[in-house]
Amino acid sequence: METKLWGGRFAGEIAKILARFQNSYRFDRRLWRQDLRASIVHARMLGRQGIIPEEEAERIVAGLEAIRADLESGRLRWPEAGSTWESAVAGPHEPEEPEDIHTLVEAWLVERVGEAGKRLHTARSRNDQVQVDTRLYLKEALAGPGGVDEAVRELQRVLVELAKQYGETIMPGYTHLQRAQPVLLGHHLLAYFWMLERDRQRLADCLRRADACPLGSGALAGVPYPVDREWVARELGFSRISENSLDAVSDRDYVVEALSDLSIIMMHLSRLAEEIVLWSSSEFSFVELSDSYSTGSSIMPQKKNPDGAELVRGKAGRVFGDLLAVLTVCKGLPLAYNKDLQEDKEALFDAVDTVLGSLRLLAPMLATARWRTERMEEAASGGFLNATDLADYLVRKGMPFRRAHEAVGRAVRYCLEKGCRLEDLSLDELRGLVGAGAAQLIQPDVFEALALRNVVAARRAPGSTGYEPFRQELAAASSLLERGQVGKED
Ligand code: ARG
Repeated sequence: METKLWGGRFAGEIAKILARFQNSYRFDRRLWRQDLRASIVHARMLGRQGIIPEEEAERIVAGLEAIRADLESGRLRWPEAGSTWESAVAGPHEPEEPEDIHTLVEAWLVERVGEAGKRLHTARSRNDQVQVDTRLYLKEALAGPGGVDEAVRELQRVLVELAKQYGETIMPGYTHLQRAQPVLLGHHLLAYFWMLERDRQRLADCLRRADACPLGSGALAGVPYPVDREWVARELGFSRISENSLDAVSDRDYVVEALSDLSIIMMHLSRLAEEIVLWSSSEFSFVELSDSYSTGSSIMPQKKNPDGAELVRGKAGRVFGDLLAVLTVCKGLPLAYNKDLQEDKEALFDAVDTVLGSLRLLAPMLATARWRTERMEEAASGGFLNATDLADYLVRKGMPFRRAHEAVGRAVRYCLEKGCRLEDLSLDELRGLVGAGAAQLIQPDVFEALALRNVVAARRAPGSTGYEPFRQELAAASSLLERGQVGKED
């Protein structure tokens, strides 16, 4: 099998170290479906346009389709691939590892259909070919079945389910990780729903810009054949063709954008994971992960660890690294294609795989956890979560907010010394604490204002944690979930 596409000009053999170092087959072989699909359409176009004889185009297409069928059924065996560049390229007695997926597909084709196969690469370069493959891959990875958008929606669905089931539990809301004001658990969970919703929009937006077909750009300058770029783009499901051949072969904006969007998803998942880690500690005990989604310790028999959530948190760093790697690769590259650009794929694949794994882990981890709502309510009853509302009560009765803030601060200090809650104070104690002139502002209805349910319910404006706005929020989130998929809306 011919494993090089460019032997003619060279008298000497390529050094093993260079062959290994530049080899991309071990990671770009996963583009095989896209590579075959794009090659089939390209060959058809060559035949239709009379660039190669029609019957040779047909033989090429039949050969590529047979390769696809044989790969799908497992009849065709993949050449072995090393797992790192060091292990790429087999030893002296074994066949060489192909340089990349494009090389392998063409070699397989020539094996099957002979000379006709050598016409496939007419009016094409690997520089535009790899760009079409990667764009096709990205569309499927983000918006296709089993892709990122689907996995994001599954996690959103779990959040909505939990919000329906336990949503009206009162828990402490935090600022600075200090108990601040009571919130509904559902409101807290749905905060992540909206982050993920923005993530979906970003993915769709990225795909809109990536949706241009680069084929026909050739190596860099376009090709001197009457190619029908529009037809190729339509056949491959692109909405348009790229505008500039130099840009088309060297642009990796869409990879950087996808990596940015995936990084933002990981940043969100990492925050969620951090809360799971915190909440499953004995100090919080707001949640208990199911045994299936926890791990043990090799030395401490009592341990039940949230390793999965910790890894999601940790892997955020890895995806940020993928983004930074590609940004750095592209910075300072002169036009047009440079081999540096081959470095985009491992980063992109790694980020997609990591995000998919994290989403697919978190969804069932949350769905199967025990949500200890009694612990949340207990935690909410300490920590003076109703202090702001006592101040608001005084404001409603006419006191300026700053004075009310001061008076309630005194009341809190008094309670801390006494070891009690604001609602445990007597009417007289409360009156004494706000000061002589204002004592009559405090009436028995103050105890209603201090009840946590009423503190929550008082937040009636849309977007707040109150029961009514929360029910509306939940309905809005549920109905969004029912709507279409990323890239298909508009
Ligand atoms: N494997 C390369 C890449 O991923 C595509 C091949 C282009 N190579 C070349 N020498 N022009 O970018």
